[in-house]
Amino acid sequence: MELDNAVVLITGANRGLGRAFTTALLDAGAAKVYAGARDPQSVDASDPRVVPLRLDITRPEDVAAAAGIAADVTLLVNNAGIATGTHALGDDGLEGARQEMEVNYFGHLAVSRAFAPVLAANGGGALVNVLSALSWVSFPQYGNYSAAKSAAWSLTNHLRTVLRGQGTLVSGLHLGYADTDMTAGVDAPKAAPADIAAALVAGLRVGEEEILADETSRFVKAALSGPVDALYADVQAGYDGALARR
Ligand SMILES: NC(=O)c1ccc[n+]([C@@H]2O[C@H](COP(=O)([O-])OP(=O)(O)OC[C@H]3O[C@@H](n4cnc5c(N)ncnc54)[C@H](OP(=O)(O)O)[C@@H]3O)[C@@H](O)[C@H]2O)c1
Repeated sequence: MELDNAVVLITGANRGLGRAFTTALLDAGAAKVYAGARDPQSVDASDPRVVPLRLDITRPEDVAAAAGIAADVTLLVNNAGIATGTHALGDDGLEGARQEMEVNYFGHLAVSRAFAPVLAANGGGALVNVLSALSWVSFPQYGNYSAAKSAAWSLTNHLRTVLRGQGTLVSGLHLGYADTDMTAGVDAPKAAPADIAAALVAGLRVGEEEILADETSRFVKAALSGPVDALYADVQAGYDGALARR
């Protein structure tokens, strides 16, 4: 995808990876970034190319209003997400799963539905869903998160098939740990958000439909081709090893 003069919408752009994506895409030549945020005042808009946009992705009225305002978007980055740290069988397992699905799946779906016609009207463009190495494997402490990210991965694959006809590149961005508020309680090596953002820019430039942004995501994806009974031991060892080598 040509990033020069791209008009971008990033959900959850006020902090973490969303903020890093904003900087990287502007540096790569984007003309404007609509910085979606539940609280637009939390967006750093010191660069005049950054346009704060009220967008709670779970609120249909916000999503509809955003599609009306940001009608010139050529690149949508579905980044906003939560990690409840709940597992399926815990006391809060059902409520946690519903929260994860509401944001990490239905939120991506709602914004994608609203902006697919916008992208079509603007020549096709691209849609990126920010996923995870945990779209492919599950650990006890991330069970509900993994299930929601798996659903969002499947949605990404589905959107790729249905939006190909209008010329929209649909890409999934996968990564292991990155150093953001989401992983503040995780004691493990973490990628710098700027490095993940650089991988996003590089992948978009060459039209990658699946962007594996770090060693962890590349390791986990490759491990899926092994026998199922060995998968989890291998993935856990490789996941830890990849993290340790960073
Ligand atoms: N950090 C990692 O290690 C890692 C690894 C793999 C994938 N990811 C994915 O990367 C994405 C960004 O995560 P992050 O690490 O940057 O997390 P973060 O620092 O916790 O930031 C999360 C962002 O999502 C926003 N958000 C949450 N719920 C929202 C909603 N209903 N509507 C709109 N915005 C909402 C937050 O807004 P508020 O400020 O209003 O809360 C915030 O801007 C997520 O999809 C996450 O699953 C992260």
